[in-house]
This record gives sequence, structure tokens and C-alpha cells, in this order.
Amino acid sequence: MPATNLRNSLDNQAPIAFLDSGVGGLPYLQWVRQHAPDENFVYFADRGHFPYGPKTPDEVFAAVAEGVAKCGAAFDPKLFVLACNTASVSALERLRLEFPEKIFVGTVPAIKPAARYSRNKRIGILATSATIHAHYLDGLIERFASSCTIIRVPGPDIVNFVEKKFFAATPEERLLVVAEAVEKFRAEGVDTVVLACTHFLYLHNEIHAELGEDVRLIDSREGVGKRVLEILDTGDLRRLPSSRPFPPRLYLSGTQPPEAQYAFFADYFKIELSGLL
Ligand code: DGL
Repeated sequence: MPATNLRNSLDNQAPIAFLDSGVGGLPYLQWVRQHAPDENFVYFADRGHFPYGPKTPDEVFAAVAEGVAKCGAAFDPKLFVLACNTASVSALERLRLEFPEKIFVGTVPAIKPAARYSRNKRIGILATSATIHAHYLDGLIERFASSCTIIRVPGPDIVNFVEKKFFAATPEERLLVVAEAVEKFRAEGVDTVVLACTHFLYLHNEIHAELGEDVRLIDSREGVGKRVLEILDTGDLRRLPSSRPFPPRLYLSGTQPPEAQYAFFADYFKIELSGLL
């Protein structure tokens, strides 16, 4: 449904909600915040269901639908950004059916720009197992990269590392966790790698350093961010800057008190760790 049809039922002052299984979507929120500084933001890290990567599409859908319902009840956001490839490729279509009154922006592997960029037509995709096996990814490849050889590499350890150890890790540990995936891409001679899991943006520099200057890394942060701005504009949904926005708020699912790393992430992104939801 186009955003404009929903305009009357929406409040410009309402926040934009970002959702992920954990901290992967924070760089996406940061991009949008930089480009739309008058907006209010809430971020929902579905720590209680982390990780999404090993789950079936039904399980991912159930987890994300629960998060959308919780955020809807608590904040009534004007826009939901699924800052998670796994959630988007596994569940976005069903979410749109389940919540027809809500506006969703999804995050999908940046296959189209990768195919445009690649010279040797050998493209690596680093993603969760769920994304690697998703029909949605097959469709993207068929549509935009049918002339390319695609090397799909799952990186579950990298997801876990970013979520739980990133800030405490040494530079060597950060290089080590990406080494196996990098080795596979190198052996296959790819000239382009798609970071198709939002958690992997944190290790962009390490992956790039290991792959070398000649291999380009592509992610979807700017594409997703621009889509959010476009919806705000075409739907006349921009918040009126009559008062200062509140600092973005980070909420976690689950029952345990937040582990120490979430305070580091909140501090790094200058957002408020606001407790459990
Ligand atoms: N950050 C997510 C993605 O973009 C999922 C990571 C996970 O929970 O496995 O796919």
C-alpha cells in the first residue's frame, strides 16, 4: 500500500522503529539519523530470539511479528525498518499481510548494485544460513545477476561474535573471525562481496583489509536509508521540528538484565539503553 494512502492515520510526530535480532541494525539507524536529525527513533533488538540465522522462515516470522506487535503497542511508530536481511527475506511479505496498516522498509542483499559493479562476474555473498537458503535470494539473483557466478558463504560465528564480543575483542580476534569466509572468497576469485547481514557492517574494515583493495564490499545501508527518506517525503511524514527529538532509545527483548555489551553499543551510537520490552 503506498505510504500516501496511510497518511491520515499516521502521526508525523511518531517515532521510526528499527528492528533486528540484535545490534546489526544500529549502523542503519545511524545513517537515517544523520540524514533526518529531527526524527525520533526507537530500536528493538530481539535479543530473546537471537540469532535469527539458524531459524526456519516460520520461526523468524513468529519472532519478528511479536517484535512488531510489541513496538506497535508501545510506540505506534509511523514506519518500521526491518534492519535485518534474515527477517526481511524470510518474513517481510507475511508481515505486510499480517499488519496491513503498517509501513515496512525491508533490508535485502544488495545483489543489484553488486552485479552492476562486478567486472569478472564473480560475486560473494556473506549472510546468515536463513538468507543464504532463502527463495527470496534466489529471486534476486535470477532477476539482477543471472550472468554472474554467485558464491554463498554463511557466517554464523561472525554474527555471534559481533553481538557478544565485538567491543571486548582485540584487533587480531576481529581478523580471525572473518578469516575463513575471506579465504573462501579469495579461493573463488570474487571481485565483489555483498555484506548481506547487517551485523557484518561492524567488520567491514577487517573483511576489506583481508580481501585486499581490489575486492569491493557492498552493503545496503544507504539504499535502505534513502528508501526511508523517500517514504518520509512522499508520505508527508517528516516530523515537524517544533521540539528537539529525544535521543534514540534502545530496547531489548528477553527477560535477563541487559548484558554489558549493550551499554557499549548504546554509548558508541549515542543512544539510550532503555531497558526491556
Ligand atoms: N542481522 C541479521 C541479518 O541481517 C540477522 C543475524 C542473526 O540473528 O542471525 O540477517
